[in-house]
Amino acid sequence: VPLPRVLSGIQPSAGSFQLGNYLGALRQWVALQDTTEAFYCVVDLHAITLPQDPAELRRSTLVSAAQLLALGVDPARSTLFVQSHVPEHLQLSWVMECLTGFGEAGRMTQFKDKSQREGTAGATVGLFTYPVLQAADILVYQADQVPVGEDQRQHLELTRDLATRFNSRFGTTFTVPAAYIPPGAAKILDLQSPERKMSKSLPPAGTVYLLDEPAVTAKKIRSAVTDTGREIMADAVAKPGVTNLLTIHSALSGRSVRELEEHFAGRGYGDLKKELAEVVTEFVTPVRQRTTELLDDRAELERILADGAQRAREVARQTVAEVYDRVGF
Ligand code: ADP
Ligand code: NA
Repeated sequence: VPLPRVLSGIQPSAGSFQLGNYLGALRQWVALQDTTEAFYCVVDLHAITLPQDPAELRRSTLVSAAQLLALGVDPARSTLFVQSHVPEHLQLSWVMECLTGFGEAGRMTQFKDKSQREGTAGATVGLFTYPVLQAADILVYQADQVPVGEDQRQHLELTRDLATRFNSRFGTTFTVPAAYIPPGAAKILDLQSPERKMSKSLPPAGTVYLLDEPAVTAKKIRSAVTDTGREIMADAVAKPGVTNLLTIHSALSGRSVRELEEHFAGRGYGDLKKELAEVVTEFVTPVRQRTTELLDDRAELERILADGAQRAREVARQTVAEVYDRVGF
């Protein structure tokens, strides 16, 4: 029995991943390598839906790939590549655009949010059709499963609708992918505004980047917003900041939140923050080191990505050939 096939991508924006990316997604990427046939990509085509500096984008893409490898994505067990290296994503995307209703695309709530932020004048057609390219990213590999967070559910529904539509119009071609909610994925909140999720696109004071220097990490954690109480206990409503710090500690140390509450009983927020900074530093230090090593040998890193793209294209090319044939090209 072949292993289920999984596709997941991550944007290269800002150059360094943040703790939420790891604990909410990338850790599961690493785990899924053992039980699935995984395709992982750095989605640089998606990145240009918002303006990017070319040199920075090129750099961010390499830094992102290096971080994925440093975190444990293993090119011997999964296919790691850069989206723009596989032009078949775009070939399929055009076909999918011609199957997507204008109103259907207009209902995507992420476009509404992001275009509002950009202002009507700044929003591009690329930002509008982004979910269709995302559908092509998934369908071109005939993925069985797609690990998704809440924010991506609507896009996966569109992907499933497009696959089903193509199949009924042109004959069964696509696997209709299922959402996979990874067990143990933690939602990490912004350290400065613990009512919203940590994000690489929010101000850096509340975001712990994996590539931050240890002193920067310690300072960010020391300055994390808590509350006026003193007791260290998890209570997502009354103590979102403290709960977030416990969540991060627990996810990285492997100790349960209950256990940590006991461990910190009678101690203050300062103790929790100091220990958490140590736990985070212990985790990120080897990741940073390995990332630097990989970036220092750029030729080898580019070789790994070229090999990944070649393997990805072998699969993607077959799908596009079948699709083009069925469409009448
Ligand atoms: P960002 O907001 O940092 O730009 P993305 O929107 O690119 O992150 O998401 C990349 C992946 O990381 C997604 O799977 C998303 O669900 C996950 N992710 C991002 N931020 C967090 C967070 N704070 N907690 C948990 N998972 C997160
Ligand atoms: Na984002």
